[in-house]
Amino acid sequence: MNSNRRTFLKTTAAAALGFPAILRGANLNSNLQIAAVGCSGKGLSDITEVGSHARAKYVGFCDVDTSRFDKADEKFPGVPHFQDFREMFARLGETCDAVIVSTPDHMHAFIALEAMRGGKHVYCQKPLTHTVWEARQMRLQAAKSKVVTQMGNQIHSHEAYRTAVKLLRDGVIGKVTAVHSWQPNNGNGYTKLTAPPPSGPVPETLNWDGWLGVAPHRDFAPDVYHPFKWRDWQDFGGGTMGDFACHILDPIFTALGLTAPLSIRAENEGANAQTWPFAETVSYVFPGTALTAGKTVPVTWYDGGHQPEAAIASILPADKKVPKAGSIVLGETGALLIPHYALPEVFPHDTTARVEIEKVPGSSHYHAWVEAALGGPQTTDGFDYAGPLTEAVQLGNVATRLPNETLEWDAAALKITSHPDANRLLTKTYRDDWKIAPVT
Ligand SMILES: NC(=O)c1ccc[n+]([C@@H]2O[C@H](COP(=O)([O-])OP(=O)(O)OC[C@H]3O[C@@H](n4cnc5c(N)ncnc54)[C@H](O)[C@@H]3O)[C@@H](O)[C@H]2O)c1
Repeated sequence: MNSNRRTFLKTTAAAALGFPAILRGANLNSNLQIAAVGCSGKGLSDITEVGSHARAKYVGFCDVDTSRFDKADEKFPGVPHFQDFREMFARLGETCDAVIVSTPDHMHAFIALEAMRGGKHVYCQKPLTHTVWEARQMRLQAAKSKVVTQMGNQIHSHEAYRTAVKLLRDGVIGKVTAVHSWQPNNGNGYTKLTAPPPSGPVPETLNWDGWLGVAPHRDFAPDVYHPFKWRDWQDFGGGTMGDFACHILDPIFTALGLTAPLSIRAENEGANAQTWPFAETVSYVFPGTALTAGKTVPVTWYDGGHQPEAAIASILPADKKVPKAGSIVLGETGALLIPHYALPEVFPHDTTARVEIEKVPGSSHYHAWVEAALGGPQTTDGFDYAGPLTEAVQLGNVATRLPNETLEWDAAALKITSHPDANRLLTKTYRDDWKIAPVT
């Protein structure tokens, strides 16, 4: 990247944010200076993988729980610690080029938008955001700030998904008529709760208010939110769709060039106001593309034990093990099974036909972001792509909160046209001091 432009972007944006308005010196060298937010769980693996690039240098580690730095410190000793990312951004100022966001989902947009407004490149975990509206803001801000972005669905760059994408693009099953994707997890499988449990003492190492961030206040309770189990709760995670749909639908989106759905309808079991349903079927209708047979193409998501039995039975021999998760893509001349994640298999209608699968090599999703930020080839999973993918995924979560209703979607207007009341579910209520301004 042109360092003059980058420096200009950073200094103007930094001034607007109240960051120290100093010209960078240290980061005009050949390294990418990176701060990480969220240092255990997936954050540790993001830090490890990004940090394995020879030109990635950490300048700050931030975690709201100070007991969670130890493993990152073992791998990258001496990196300064912060408990508040806003303080970290302000203190690092221009000595930070890029930010990894690996917090629970409800905080992705707030942190990543602040980083991008400050001119930082961003690697942000999947699902890119917690709401449809936030996904739109992320795409707009990335374009406005002209920063390099990548969503953390790392399997996008794996040989299994790349090979599936190539097979579909090569027309190995002809034009696509339907897609069925599934994942067996229960959307409320970690806590099995439907209401907040009694509160418990906040661990001394944890800034609970910082962990809650944008979310409405609730008391801390042990072993149901932090770490990891926040996924079950509507205020923090996205259930099974939030956890897996940005992975499993990704090769479908990439290969077919899907855009925004025209309509979404969900059926579920175990719906309640606090946690996600334990099983769902979410039916999307997308506009057709050059690779689909019709003017529209149905894409159906199943989780928590719901599965596309008929599609599975139509292509897999009875003695063949059904992958735990994945997709079946039905085409005019055959079907493609895309296990999550192993090499795909082709099932031509002409059972005498032999299909040779040529593997497309994978590469590091993490290094691709570092390389792009250092001026190399563009990422393929930037927010221009990941934003619309996440909008579609989170529209599934809107539909599951209004089951058995067909929601007609006007993507340009960011509006559900068939059900005015549903539009409130495109966004959420932000706590005072944690509001996100729309990108203009
Ligand atoms: N790409 C993948 O394969 C994959 C796998 C697992 C998780 N994830 C995603 O990674 C993210 C983190 O998931 P996890 O399972 O590691 O969660 P986790 O709760 O186990 O870990 C989150 C970490 O972030 C810290 N944290 C929380 N809020 C913070 C804040 N405001 N500022 C700084 N630190 C904060 C926590 O203390 C903890 O160390 C989620 O978005 C999840 O969807 C992706």
